Amino acid sequence: MTPLDPSNDHSAVNLEHNDLAGQAVDAIEDLSGAHPGYRRAHAKGICCRAVFRPSGLATALTTAPHLQEQEIEAVVRFSGSSTDPALADALSPAKGMAVQFTLPDGGITNLVGVTVPVFFARTPESFLDIIRTAHRAQEGNLGPIDLIKEITTHFSESKESFLAVKHLKPPASYAACHYYCIHAYFLMDRQGTSRPVKFEWIPGDGVHTISVTDAAKQPDDYLEDELRLRLDKAPAVFQLTAILGEDGDPTDDPTRAWPDDRERINLGRLYITEYIEEPEGLVMDPTAVTDGMALSDDPILQFRHAAYADSSNRRREGR
Ligand code: HEM
Repeated sequence: MTPLDPSNDHSAVNLEHNDLAGQAVDAIEDLSGAHPGYRRAHAKGICCRAVFRPSGLATALTTAPHLQEQEIEAVVRFSGSSTDPALADALSPAKGMAVQFTLPDGGITNLVGVTVPVFFARTPESFLDIIRTAHRAQEGNLGPIDLIKEITTHFSESKESFLAVKHLKPPASYAACHYYCIHAYFLMDRQGTSRPVKFEWIPGDGVHTISVTDAAKQPDDYLEDELRLRLDKAPAVFQLTAILGEDGDPTDDPTRAWPDDRERINLGRLYITEYIEEPEGLVMDPTAVTDGMALSDDPILQFRHAAYADSSNRRREGR
């Protein structure tokens, strides 16, 4: 459980990952098609303005500037997990909530969550294998159920994640989902002591779902429409929770959750106030950490920097 050097420059890591990242994004395109100008995952989304009010409880754990006592501005992007920007909201099972905090010194840091607690691949290499296996199975005309059977037979690490996706019910609102940031990070206090943590965004009004039958009757953009109407009346609120890891909790494996009884700390509340156009150049890179925070040894977390850069380069170039 060793934190990486806390810095926004992960160039050593990036050099190793650039080539693999290109291959991973190519593999996603082979499987699901390319949609020029859009994110290669979570293509359909909506952005909002928000403000984060820290609880002050994190000051004993970290010097991270957004987790002290000062109010912090933020941009939030809610999304469906599909690579197809035209897919109806009801048809992408998992949803995403990515938050970009604007730090007092003008820098940024991001926390990116989804509605399942674990990921389907343990390493970038197995991610690539799984996507390529899925592509071969798709070319062999396997249906979605057989495709999942094929993947979980070859990659037992994916089982928990696929099971979690299978149990997801359609959300009533983007603001009524529980989002898990999945990876472990480290928080460092003033004395330099570091502790492993995971982050979750918990909806202020609780989790609300609708039946699959009702979801099928909704308009394509029902989650975006609902959010706009909701924000016209009042802010949508989320609590940011830190889960403190203990000895033996894996920090390098995004396919495994930590035990349920770990200590949870309320870090503060996020108030989402209004819909905005997507800010130019927005990239929700989950490796952009601040002072007082560090990346864990999770190889998927570290790999996401290069994968997101590759995807954002393609969409910036209109590819
Ligand atoms: C090998 C692992 C992964 C790869 C290759 C990957 C790939 C991508 C890519 C290419 C994008 C679009 C980036 C952009 O153009 O800005 C993206 C977005 C996203 N990914 Fe991942 N991803 C991985 C793991 C994860 C995990 C573990 C999570 C769960 C927290 C996640 C959640 C999201 C979300 C929520 C977005 C949308 C962010 C936004 O709104 O801008 N991804 N991913």
